[in-house]
Order: sequence, then structure tokens, then C-alpha cells
Amino acid sequence: MLARQGCVAYKREANRGGSLSLERIRRFDFMTPCRLLITGGTGSFGKEFVKTVLERQPETERLVIFSRDELKQFEMAQAFPASKYPQLRFFIGDVRDKERLMRAMEGIDTVVHAAALKQVPTAEYNPFECIKTNVLGAENVIEACLASGVSRVVALSTDKAAAPINLYGATKLCSDKLFVAANNIRGRHNIKLSVVRYGNVMGSRGSVIPFFMERRKTGTLPITDTRMTRFNITLQEGVEMVLHALERSLGGEIFVPKIPSYRIMDVADAIGPECDKPVVGIRAGEKIHEEMVTETDALQTIATAKDYIIVPMLHLKDQQQVMAEYCKHHSGAPVPEGFSYNSGRNTDWLSVDQIRDLIRQHVDASFA
Ligand SMILES: NC(=O)c1ccc[n+]([C@@H]2O[C@H](COP(=O)([O-])OP(=O)(O)OC[C@H]3O[C@@H](n4cnc5c(N)ncnc54)[C@H](OP(=O)(O)O)[C@@H]3O)[C@@H](O)[C@H]2O)c1
Repeated sequence: MLARQGCVAYKREANRGGSLSLERIRRFDFMTPCRLLITGGTGSFGKEFVKTVLERQPETERLVIFSRDELKQFEMAQAFPASKYPQLRFFIGDVRDKERLMRAMEGIDTVVHAAALKQVPTAEYNPFECIKTNVLGAENVIEACLASGVSRVVALSTDKAAAPINLYGATKLCSDKLFVAANNIRGRHNIKLSVVRYGNVMGSRGSVIPFFMERRKTGTLPITDTRMTRFNITLQEGVEMVLHALERSLGGEIFVPKIPSYRIMDVADAIGPECDKPVVGIRAGEKIHEEMVTETDALQTIATAKDYIIVPMLHLKDQQQVMAEYCKHHSGAPVPEGFSYNSGRNTDWLSVDQIRDLIRQHVDASFA
């Protein structure tokens, strides 16, 4: 409701030829923003995010999609035609290019940073490229936000960033650190930057479910390790988490949603119970279980009803006081000493039947 009032007021002012100052906009305390930019807006997350914002907040003033490939943008523009969504803008640009980011962020108040190189083997084989996009790109996004008067920023992270063992995870950890630390250098800018970290997105490109669905036809599902577990989240749940972070962040949090795990053997049984399941061995850069909050992170982590929040270490501030402030704001409590949030020790598990239902709902409606 407040968000709607804010956007309407913004429009009314604009129609009168004036413009609302950032301070006045903030007073409406937006649940969802008015002038938004998403890097990687043509990716799986980006498309779902854009769809959700346009459905829930049709009066959004401007929504900029920032990415490199014109074909993906062309296809997205077909799905979201300008006649129906005049607020959509497609900007070709690379997060490695700070000037372009600055130009794209003119007048923007909220940024979601989803652009990344995210394939583990690609990162191992092309390490410099991965660092340029995931680390230097993150730095450019932050610098452009600081220079452009942006007030809210959420960057996407991954479970692979917690105690990383591959370059992709390591670059995302660097990115997380940059976004968290940027709250220390914001100076007089009224900006809050935070991170949302989650695990495997159900059915995303290159992930195990589409891989098994394809391999089912051959009668064989290769299993890397029978003990393997993963966290599972749907795209829509990921979008909800980012909207929640935009709305609730004090700045510097790493938000980790409480989500279920699955066992790889249960996924194989859900997709191809009749298939052979030879064990082929773990691949380079893979873990048996993924982690989202490590035991070390736990010292500065709070639990709320829906998520864990890794609280930032704020420069020159008493950490106990900071923890108390974040606990109060997020209605949470510190996790016990020695806690870790690990897909193998999760208390919430998807059964074979639940995996089948989720595949039907989120991956392939015709799956039988
Ligand atoms: N999918 C998952 O399972 C998962 C799990 C946890 C976290 N995440 C995180 O969620 C975010 C979004 O993932 P996704 O699944 O939506 O990825 P995706 O489908 O591969 O999309 C990536 C997007 O980033 C853009 N991009 C890549 N490099 C870029 C660059 N240098 N400059 C500008 N745009 C660039 C791509 O478009 P162009 O190629 O046209 O530039 C595309 O729009 C990532 O940060 C990822 O690390 C994903």
C-alpha cells in the first residue's frame, strides 16, 4: 500500500513537471521500488524478477534490464512488449564497464545485481574472465551505485561462496565481501547494500534436474556420489527473498533463506526409478554437501522465522551492539555456538514424491 502511494505520488509530481527528491521518496518507505535496474536481467532469475515486479507493481516508473547479449534482450522484449510495459528499458552493457553502468543508473533508486558467470567448470578453465565479471564487475556496480544516488542494492550470491572450494564460489565470496564492506564507505550517501545467498535453483540451466530429465531417455542416470545432498529453492522463492531483502535490509546483511535439502539418490528415484544409477565419482570443484552459513559465520549470524542473517562486522562499532540492533530490527536471535547451515545436516528434507510434485510445478508440467 505504502509502495503504491509512493509511486503514485512520484508520478503526480512528475506530471506537474517537478521531481521528488530522494529524501521524499524514501519517506514512503518502498516495499518495492520505483526506478529499478537489474544487471543480468535476461537470465533465469532476472526474467522471473521482472515478471514479478511488473505484476505486483505495474506503476513502477522505470525498470532497466542491463546485460550483454542483444538476442536475449530481443527475445525478452517480445515477451514483455513495450506497448504493454512502457517502463521497461533494455540496456546493452557489460558489468566490466563502469562508465556504462553509471550511465544506465542515472535516476535509478534500486539495483539488483544478478549478472555473473556461474558455471563451475567454466570458471576453473577461464579464471581471469570469471574474476573480471564476478569480482571487478561487482566493484563497478558498487562504484556506479555510490556515484548515482542509488539507495538500495541487493546482490545475488550462492551457497558455493561459503567456504569455497572452486573459483566460482571464491569470486562470489569476494563479491559478497565487497557489497557488505561498501556499507562502510558510503560516506554521506544514504545507501544500503546487502546480499541474498541461496542454493540450487530448481531446474536452472546446467543443474542436476534438467540433466537427469534428459538422461532418463538413455536408461542411465550417472551418480557422482550416493551421499550427495543439495539445498533446493524455486526461482519464485529466490525472487521473494530478494524483495524481502530490498524491503528490510539495514545494510550489510547476507540473507540466507531457510529452504529444504534433497538427496541426490531421491532426485534420481523421482526422475528415473527404473534407470541404472552407476556411480561415476565426484567432479572437480564439487562438495558432497553444500553450506550456506559456516561454523565461523555462526558467531555473527541470527535466525529469524524465515531466514538466517549473517550480520556485518561494522567498522569501529561494538559488534555486540550491532548484533542487538540487527536482532531487534529483524525479530531474530543469535544462532547457538557451533551452528552451521549445511545441506547434509538440514532438518527439512524433500521426499521423492515432493520432488516429483515440484518438478511438475516448476520444471515440466507434463512430467509423469
Ligand atoms: N541458478 C542457480 O542455481 C543459482 C544459485 C545460487 C545463486 N545464483 C546466482 O543468481 C544470479 C543469477 O543467476 P541466473 O541463474 O539467473 O544466471 P543466468 O541465467 O546464467 O543469467 C546470467 C545473466 O547475467 C548476464 N551477464 C553475464 N555476464 C554479464 C556481464 N559481464 N555483464 C552484464 N551481464 C552479464 C547474462 O546475460 P548476457 O550473457 O546477455 O550478458 C544473464 O542475463 C547469479 O549471480 C548466480 O550466481 C544462481
